[in-house]
Amino acid sequence: MGRAAGWLQVAAAAGCAVAAWALAAAMVKERVAAWKQWLRAVEVVREFEESFETPTERLQRVVNSLAIEMFAGLASENASKVRMLLTCVDRLPNWNEEGIYYAIDIGGTSFRVLKVQLGAGYTIIDKKVQLQPIPTKGTIEDFFNFIASTLKNFIEKEGDKGKALGFTFSFPIEQFSITSGSLIRWTKEFSIEEAVGKDVAQCLNEALVRNGMHLQVNALMNNTVGTLALGHYYDKDTVAAVIIGAGTNACYIESNEAITKGQGLLTNSGRMVVNVEWGSFRPPQIPLTPYDICFNNETQNYYDQGFEKMISGVYLGEIARLVFHKMAQVSDVFGTAVDGLAIPFTLSTPCLAAIREDDSGDLREVGRRLEEHLKISNVPLKTRRLVQRVCDIVTRRAARLAAAGIVALLQKIGRDGTCGGTTRVRRITGMPKRSVIAIEGGLIQGYAAFREYMNEAVGEILGEEIAATVVLRMVEEGSGIGAALVAAAYSSNQHNSIHVGMVQT
Ligand code: BGC
Repeated sequence: MGRAAGWLQVAAAAGCAVAAWALAAAMVKERVAAWKQWLRAVEVVREFEESFETPTERLQRVVNSLAIEMFAGLASENASKVRMLLTCVDRLPNWNEEGIYYAIDIGGTSFRVLKVQLGAGYTIIDKKVQLQPIPTKGTIEDFFNFIASTLKNFIEKEGDKGKALGFTFSFPIEQFSITSGSLIRWTKEFSIEEAVGKDVAQCLNEALVRNGMHLQVNALMNNTVGTLALGHYYDKDTVAAVIIGAGTNACYIESNEAITKGQGLLTNSGRMVVNVEWGSFRPPQIPLTPYDICFNNETQNYYDQGFEKMISGVYLGEIARLVFHKMAQVSDVFGTAVDGLAIPFTLSTPCLAAIREDDSGDLREVGRRLEEHLKISNVPLKTRRLVQRVCDIVTRRAARLAAAGIVALLQKIGRDGTCGGTTRVRRITGMPKRSVIAIEGGLIQGYAAFREYMNEAVGEILGEEIAATVVLRMVEEGSGIGAALVAAAYSSNQHNSIHVGMVQT
């Protein structure tokens, strides 16, 4: 081989080495760039997690604040963020009611019409439920006509007139009596503005007449009250009810001495069910994160319904979507076709729950949901894991705040071992009686992780011993069946129904 050929070979080898090196360098650069992108997304989630932390001690302070707001709300109108609405309900069914009762349950984006057949001695013999989507906008007349005509068709199909009608209307209402109450304002993104200030029972009664029906509302109530009635029907130790669905709220049995406002409405039985409307509580110990703030800008009751926006079904999916959107803005972990992430309210809370509950090794349900709801496909496994973590963080804060709400109710009625004091003196006052809290709502019913986090936090706040005296009991269709039960209690002879005063704290 000549010298020239040798040089050529060396030069070729060197050229290959340089090309290989350049290729390797390019690959390393690409990987470093991808890694940086990934780290940015991880950092978004890390910061988000930190801002959503709810250590036990902070929850205890939330409990105390809410309990204080509840005291203030009972003292006078507008003294507190929580309205503590007097429901005029002091009578719950005592299992002697018999016959067929109807109920209408309006709360989330669908409404239910129910027929409940009661038999003597602790029995619901039969129930039929029809679910209908409901217009959240439009005129008040259309709204109530739609409800009345649906009820009419349902009753005609059932072929029995029924003894009474219970009406669950799950928005803040100021009640004047068990059969009347005016809408204070809409929540959960409903907006039929004309209805505000109107007596909703009267609106329904008029619509029933327009539809040629003789049935009139015998009992108007919030969904928490219906749930309390059903819970109490099953177990007399039921002292409160909580809803965790599209919205969130609670009610409980209060003694008249504790209610210094609304004297004209107070009952002879010495007690009344109070609708807390805790959705409007704004826990000062829980900082509003950029996601909560951004999200408040998109909703109807800006900066209002703070507790509800942190806990309930209308909103949780949206918080997660905002985090994903932020991740997509700072990194390419979702790829480039991410327009779907920019559209508000495209991730529903049931979808968030399905993502959180996916226990398949390759998180294929997470991938499927991202594709179906947010239109982003081929998301790699490690990003799907991050997505699942975000859903877990949103769920955990919500469930732990709901737990704080439950303990605040117990504190208010002296069932948390503190005798109305603060959580610090709990141990001195001894063991409270058994307390059952009836819980209902689409979010909590279908979501095991939510229930687990909530139970865990109740245990952390109360301590194991006292937590053992508290039963969180899931009830189904409480707001609807309960409405029929309350209507039965109020339409029958007074002696047939039990005064809530019989429940001793
Ligand atoms: C309403 C409450 C209702 C709760 C649960 C809230 O938005 O203000 O009245 O009980 O949702 O449905």
